Amino acid sequence: MPSGVITVSYIAATILFILALGGLSNQETSRRGNLYGIIGMLIALLVTISGLVTANYGLLLGGVIIGGTVGLLLARKVEMTQMPELVAILHSLVGMAAVLVGFANFMDHSIAYTGVDKTIHDIETYLGILIGAVTFTGSVIAFGKLSAKISGKPLLLPARHWLNLGILIACIWLGVSFVEQSAAGSGLTPLLIMTVLALLFGIHMVMAIGGADMPVVISMLNSYSGWAAAATGFMLNNDLLIVVGALVGSSGAILSYIMCRAMNRRFVAVIAGGFGTSGGSAAAGTEEAGEVISIDAEGAANLLSAAKEVMIIPGYGMAVAQAQHIVNEITKHLREKGVNVRFGIHPVAGRMPGHMNVLLAEARVPYDIVFEMDEINEDFPDVDVSVVIGANDIVNPSAQEVPDSPIAGMPVLECWKGKITIVLKRSMATGYAGVDNPLFYKENTRMLFGDAKESLESVLKLLPD
Ligand code: TAP
Repeated sequence: MPSGVITVSYIAATILFILALGGLSNQETSRRGNLYGIIGMLIALLVTISGLVTANYGLLLGGVIIGGTVGLLLARKVEMTQMPELVAILHSLVGMAAVLVGFANFMDHSIAYTGVDKTIHDIETYLGILIGAVTFTGSVIAFGKLSAKISGKPLLLPARHWLNLGILIACIWLGVSFVEQSAAGSGLTPLLIMTVLALLFGIHMVMAIGGADMPVVISMLNSYSGWAAAATGFMLNNDLLIVVGALVGSSGAILSYIMCRAMNRRFVAVIAGGFGTSGGSAAAGTEEAGEVISIDAEGAANLLSAAKEVMIIPGYGMAVAQAQHIVNEITKHLREKGVNVRFGIHPVAGRMPGHMNVLLAEARVPYDIVFEMDEINEDFPDVDVSVVIGANDIVNPSAQEVPDSPIAGMPVLECWKGKITIVLKRSMATGYAGVDNPLFYKENTRMLFGDAKESLESVLKLLPD
């Protein structure tokens, strides 16, 4: 294939990837964005395979068939709630690929670089393997923590910051010695030692990060996987890989920043680790438990039918219960009766960025009544009924009221400022951050215990026609 055709196709794919990112930033255009991404990736794959590969087609085809089949089966099988785990394990593959390609490229002597070119190429190889190895083991541990195969508790080794600093200095020193040795025709030993250190560093870094910070870690590893791909692109002289890697790297970094802001955490503090528990039990900084006022489906239906302003706050429990469709039914019903129903979405509600938006879009809730937290948080004093569906941490007032709470400072949806709040959950159990929630004991809160889907089905039946 002429190199001009390859370049033009790569530019087209790059534009499609940028359009895909733009499309994915908004619910209404996200399907189109996804389509742009698929077409861009198809072009990239076809042009790379037919234009750059010159041998071993059988091996390549075998790999594509096996990898494609595994990917297809996984994507069909995985539940929406397991998506972060899938993303984590897929990042690990990007990291592993960067390491393997780096070593293969180092051992392949068919292209002989000399002088400054050789030094630059060696640095690219070294960085690609380094970032790839950290991404690989870091993502495997993140997968283990998210799927509860490993405890979500942060592992805090004594002098862990010194340990990390030591590894960093060792990697820099090994890098210098690798470039020197490579110029003389060797260098495998420092490269191997660095790889082992980077693999250990990836494990240690993510083990030290608590469950509550995992979402940020996932997007941070997403960013790392992009930079690893970009370094591999430099190593292979592949412009498209450089651009795609940089797009993934920078969008992952921006997402990490947005999530840190949403959880009121400093990025450096997240990486330093030590925050968050494995969840499930009440942690420090909780208010003295008071009396809980429960309500039944009939009471909830009465409150809703008397309301003019309703705010629905979905959380992880809505995803677990798969209650989004019944939520849409209730919304339709209330809107037909002239009730102003809106949705308030917290940036880290659920278990992945955009989790609630995806579920609501799947249930065909109209986009124009779905609002970000910042857009509606000041409206709660005018809300008659807030309905919290399987959410906990994102509506926890202790984030504002208890300075030493593990979630202190995290912005939350201030539903308790409304007239009445109905909370749907199965028990008094804590949410992801493992912190008790004083909202449940407030005078204007009513607890509707049970599976969110079943409770809402009963409420819908009892709403007057
Ligand atoms: P959580 O605080 O985890 O609370 C979810 C609540 O849903 C639980 O308290 C649980 O209570 C209830 N629940 C579970 N299954 C249910 C069901 N079938 N029916 C009714 N209720 C059910 O969720 P949240 O408020 O959405 O907050 C998200 C948390 O996850 C934050 O701490 C966030 O930092 C973290 N996180 C977020 C992400 C992203 S990027 N979104 C990723 C990972 C972690 P019961 O057991 O009593 O029913």
